[in-house]
Amino acid sequence: MPSTAHRALLISGSLRSGSTNTALLRTVAALAPADATAELFSGTAALPYFDPDLDRDPLPPPVQELRDAVHAADALLICTPEYAGALPGAFKNLLEWLIGDNDPRSISGKPVGWINVSTGPTGARDAHESLRIVLTYAGARIVLSDSITVPRSAIADGLVADASIVERLAGTFDRLLR
Ligand SMILES: Cc1cc2nc3c(=O)[nH]c(=O)nc-3n(C[C@H](O)[C@H](O)[C@H](O)COP(=O)(O)O)c2cc1C
Repeated sequence: MPSTAHRALLISGSLRSGSTNTALLRTVAALAPADATAELFSGTAALPYFDPDLDRDPLPPPVQELRDAVHAADALLICTPEYAGALPGAFKNLLEWLIGDNDPRSISGKPVGWINVSTGPTGARDAHESLRIVLTYAGARIVLSDSITVPRSAIADGLVADASIVERLAGTFDRLLR
């Protein structure tokens, strides 16, 4: 990988194996241009509950892994469902661990985007409003906030198989990283 490669870290708010949100992120990763790399973060379920008492060296290994992944990324892309009118607890927990990070390569000032794939009647409006509040609190630079309808029927083998949706995702990296 060339050292000048743009690196994106993709974070799904869903732990579900057949997740539409994770499928969309896998699809975006597959569309990465030659000078970019995309890593799908897989450690959300292993994170301990956020506890300021644990936020000191040495960090719990899953937290260190999360922060290392964020430090190495030029930008973050998030795709999360809404649960009970709010962000999923496991994902909110991940965000809380990021807010406690004082490293200069932390989420603060970093370009962050999200894509909403909800098919629910409110379009997951409350979760995404909450996400905007949390990211603003974290000092992230919000560079992209899209909504794309991805029905479960559009997922095949863990990827979005609908050509018109894939076409819409093609410019995501450019908008996130440049
Ligand atoms: C317990 C539970 C609560 C949910 N609450 C909401 C909600 O408040 N708003 C909404 O739009 N969808 C809600 N949903 C629907 C999920 O957001 C939807 O199933 C979504 O596709 C899950 O994302 P995933 O496919 O990436 O796992 C809920 C689903 C479950 C299981």
